[in-house]
Amino acid sequence: MAKLVKGTVVPRPIAWISSVGKSGVFNLAPYSYFNVISHNPIMFIISIGKGSNVGKDGDKDTLANIKETGDFVINMVSASLAEQMQISSGVYTREESEFEKSGLTPIESNLVTAPRVKEALINMECKLNRVMELGDFNQVIGELECFHINDEVYMENDKVNYEVYDPIGRMAANYTFVRDLFFPGGE
Ligand SMILES: Cc1cc2nc3c(=O)[nH]c(=O)nc-3n(C[C@H](O)[C@H](O)[C@H](O)COP(=O)(O)O)c2cc1C
Repeated sequence: MAKLVKGTVVPRPIAWISSVGKSGVFNLAPYSYFNVISHNPIMFIISIGKGSNVGKDGDKDTLANIKETGDFVINMVSASLAEQMQISSGVYTREESEFEKSGLTPIESNLVTAPRVKEALINMECKLNRVMELGDFNQVIGELECFHINDEVYMENDKVNYEVYDPIGRMAANYTFVRDLFFPGGE
């Protein structure tokens, strides 16, 4: 059933999470069990599978870093960054940085220790609210502390230029563009 659910509850947004642990290595990985769950305060949920990529025990690097520092950045994925996002999902040890593997640039955040992805058009600095264990997953709930949006994407009255932003979503193991906007009953 899980495969059918992943194939039908679509498209899923992708949180491209940058984080850093005490060792100082910049980590980056995509998570599509992700959504915004509240706007006052603005909160996100990300569901991280139990077990690290390099062994059954231990947390994935993203979760380990978030637990150590209490913060992370959600970078949003534009179509032009899809390949680099895919590279960053590979299995690497905690000492290896996905920023280097994917040729991306870490830049300092304003309010959190985690770096931001310079090339991403939207970065959201978050502080950890809580981690909840649920079956085989850890639910990470974080609160938005600082929102960065590229000048070309930002439009008057807090509207978004989707042509520039060009976000992608996850469909089972594939991806989809989010390009055809419509309003039911509208033109
Ligand atoms: C588009 C995409 C979405 C993913 N979503 C999730 C997810 O929601 N939860 C999860 O545990 N792993 C997810 N993964 C797998 C992680 O990205 C992968 O295990 C990664 O290596 C974790 O890296 P880390 O150990 O540096 O955190 C996803 C992978 C891709 C490519």
